[in-house]
Amino acid sequence: MIIETQVPLQAHNTFGIAAKAERLLRLRSMEDVAALLTDPIRTEPHFVLGGGSNIVITGDIKPLVIKVELKGKQLVSEDDKAWIVQAAAGEDWHDFVAWTLEKGWPGLENLAMIPGLVGASPVQNIGAYGVELQDRFESLDAVDLQTGQHFTLDAAQCAFGYRDSIFKHQASDKRDLGLLGRALITQVRFRLPKKWKADIGYADLEKKQAQTGIANPTAQQVFDWVCDIRRAKLPNPQVVGNAGSFFKNPTVTPEQCADIIAREPRLVHYHLSDGRIKLAAAWLIDACGWRGKSVGNAAVYDKQALVIINKGGRDSPCTGGEVVTLAKAIQTSVYERFGIQLEPEPVVV
Ligand code: EPU
Repeated sequence: MIIETQVPLQAHNTFGIAAKAERLLRLRSMEDVAALLTDPIRTEPHFVLGGGSNIVITGDIKPLVIKVELKGKQLVSEDDKAWIVQAAAGEDWHDFVAWTLEKGWPGLENLAMIPGLVGASPVQNIGAYGVELQDRFESLDAVDLQTGQHFTLDAAQCAFGYRDSIFKHQASDKRDLGLLGRALITQVRFRLPKKWKADIGYADLEKKQAQTGIANPTAQQVFDWVCDIRRAKLPNPQVVGNAGSFFKNPTVTPEQCADIIAREPRLVHYHLSDGRIKLAAAWLIDACGWRGKSVGNAAVYDKQALVIINKGGRDSPCTGGEVVTLAKAIQTSVYERFGIQLEPEPVVV
């Protein structure tokens, strides 16, 4: 087991923030994972780094950084109903989605172009254009760094919610399986039903359908549409550093929504099946005039107010502190105007 020291992380976080890992351990194979499990270092404070697409680094990282570079993807089983496809945690998410389509196993096309690695996808329960990871999830393998045990979880055990899972929560008591800071995901399996139907109920996809005149798109067409929409709206992290949506879309009660609409008739809102109402955080931020505003080299993206970008590029990148200051200022102004507390999506390290 080789522990590297003073490892630059600028290329390993999509914001492109310059910081170092004081100690970094790469996991490239299950043998590396086995070696970690037998080493006392496994119980030390640590930070698991995937694609670095959902983090804001505010300084050099002192806890051991465990970088997951496990590779491999395969069809593990198939029956009349579905293909079960597995990918190792270190596989690139978008490449994995593209590979499933090439193989003729549709189902993940709406989740094209989400930055990051397969291993982080269940942590966040990534979602886009009407589909969430939990809709296609079968199970995952992980190791518990506290106990040194391997374990497998199904969807119910992952306790998925909107951009949420058991991996984001600390255990509140002994019976509770909060896995924050304990679990290292090694493999994720997806159930891709053979009875496929395009999921194009989302407004942006309906627009594409109308523009192209294609009523019944193939999975590859949906994939291409999603890629087009994302390219038009979201900055490519390889060109402009960012961590995707910076805040979650808040939900409110119908009463709270009616109260805001009385003051702000243009409020963008969606009715959820549970009776609550989802508000577009991007609209709330936009309405407060944040588009294009900046703190140092951290700025609100001018095409999507929900995204904070590094406008200093590689040479004079924003700092994590600038991102956090900008995010706090946005939260304060949205709260003062709408009474809504926005919750950040990325993890601040
Ligand atoms: N809007 C504005 N101003 C803007 C941008 C958007 O007013 O600057 C309004 C528009 O009216 C639009 C609404 O906000 O109708 C919602 O915008 P959009 O459809 O672009 O989606 P979103 O709610 O901002 C969510 C996810 C994205 C995902 C898209 C598409 C969250 C936090 N974000 O964004 O996920 O790609 O829907 O499904 O749920 C991510 O999590 O990193 C991410 C990019």
